[in-house]
Amino acid sequence: MLKAQKVAAYGDEGFSRFLRKAFARHLGHNPQDFDKPIIGICNTRSEINRCHTHFGPIVEAIKRGVLMAGGIPLEFPTISLGESFVSPTTMLYRNLAAMDTEEMISAQPLDGVVLIGGCDKMTPAQLMAAASANIPAIMFTGGPMANGEYEGRTLGACSDCRYFWQEYRGGNIDEAELEKINESLAPTAGHCMVMGTASTMAVICEALGMMLPGAAAIPATDNRRLALAQETGKQIVKLVEQNIRPADIMTPRAFENAIRMLMAVGGSTNAVIHLVAVAGRLGIELPLELFDQLGKETPFIANLRPAGKYQMEEFFHAGGAPAVMKELEPVLHVDELTVTGKTVGENLQNVKILEHYRDVIYPFDRPLYAGEGIAVLKGNLAPDGAIIKPRAASEHLLKHKGRAIVFASLEDMEQKVNDPTLDVREDDVLILQNAGPVGAPGMPEAGMIPIPKKLLTQGVRDMVRISDCRMSGTAFGTVILHVAPEAAIGGPLALVRTGDWIELDVKQRRLQLLVSDEEMDRRKKEWKPKVKKAERGYIRLFQDHVLQADKGCDFDFLRK
Ligand code: FES
Ligand code: MG
Repeated sequence: MLKAQKVAAYGDEGFSRFLRKAFARHLGHNPQDFDKPIIGICNTRSEINRCHTHFGPIVEAIKRGVLMAGGIPLEFPTISLGESFVSPTTMLYRNLAAMDTEEMISAQPLDGVVLIGGCDKMTPAQLMAAASANIPAIMFTGGPMANGEYEGRTLGACSDCRYFWQEYRGGNIDEAELEKINESLAPTAGHCMVMGTASTMAVICEALGMMLPGAAAIPATDNRRLALAQETGKQIVKLVEQNIRPADIMTPRAFENAIRMLMAVGGSTNAVIHLVAVAGRLGIELPLELFDQLGKETPFIANLRPAGKYQMEEFFHAGGAPAVMKELEPVLHVDELTVTGKTVGENLQNVKILEHYRDVIYPFDRPLYAGEGIAVLKGNLAPDGAIIKPRAASEHLLKHKGRAIVFASLEDMEQKVNDPTLDVREDDVLILQNAGPVGAPGMPEAGMIPIPKKLLTQGVRDMVRISDCRMSGTAFGTVILHVAPEAAIGGPLALVRTGDWIELDVKQRRLQLLVSDEEMDRRKKEWKPKVKKAERGYIRLFQDHVLQADKGCDFDFLRK
């Protein structure tokens, strides 16, 4: 019955078992031990993924837990993606990591698995894999870095990487100061400590029910992370015994809980793509409209950067994801099963709200802001949708009409954006084409188009920017992202020309190119693809099979 009883196919099962027994002895286990639940521990430790370098003790703690509960832990590696060290973008490889993880879970003799992630793309990749492999699984993220500090100011990776770089470009700080700041931007082990994509996906793991309560916010270096890792090891053995699988946990209602969490913490726009992709693995559709609707209904209560004030360290002290869920309890689906073997409601029973930290986690009925963590825009420029994070945008630009300044590609943008002769004004709309899933390829985080230097030095810090790529969860500005369909496959974004007028109205959820339908048709007929696909290899596979942003950028053949 146990999956671990599956053996390699030599056409002689007896021989296969005999051979496995001989080879399994190398770990010092008695062959009888292998009648116990075999728990895979997917360790993505890598020195080229700085957010995962501290996984050694975490793995040991999980192993201890598994052994205590009567299982056999077996650690195995997969691809590990670190945001700032993978080019052109980790998003190009999220699906590869998901495939690697899924296939290794399925191919190896495992009864259950603990997946250790952390950096932006690893958590979604592992959730996608867990959904498809569908053996008992628990997520365990590596935890956020501790706060950085510079001259009395708290620093956060990587909102402050961007903020201070912009100030340096604007001439407000010099190179020596920039270097000093650089030293404390990422001061400890762990993933980025603002509510960027990594932290967002971690709290989403809890809201989905796929991670033990509290695991998201414990700092990477805090003892309590190891204690919870050990509990995770014990719990995965119980999940195997009870045969509780990811598909039992990640139901349509669990995804609604996850979307509520995303909105309540003002989380990363990237989570929209990732949640759609994970759900797609289970045959669950999450239309962008659902994000918009739940966004409107869910107040923003976690005062965390980049949209708020604090970082994960304070969030941990304030009670972390369980405290947010306690506040959201009236609107959550509390009967959903979780990896504790209990329901969301049961998990929340003993969660206390700490009044002392009310500036970090606000009450549901007295939120920091009413809803609209993420808004979904539609219009002739984005028939399949685009998204914006209104709280990270400038209020006065949320309704705006401006002249388009078009960059045809990332290279074109890099060449022109700081050219002093570029004809650009503060109320123009910057457009970046061909930076989507197929176009770039891999949909990089280039959506926070740099403000042209000549405007920066005049004090301009925000402009309306529109693209088919993503932006980092730690970024900010009036930035419209994920325009679908993308320019590279002939989406309307490809038809915009410098000098066209564009109208944005976030309240009405509209994004219009003010060009007549006839003119659009004429341009469409003239349009020729600009992006040459890769000739071979994984990147070709990616370009041939990646779905558009509104479908989660998974491969067409991986969805259920
Ligand atoms: Fe890994 Fe930010 S670089 S989470
Ligand atoms: Mg990021």
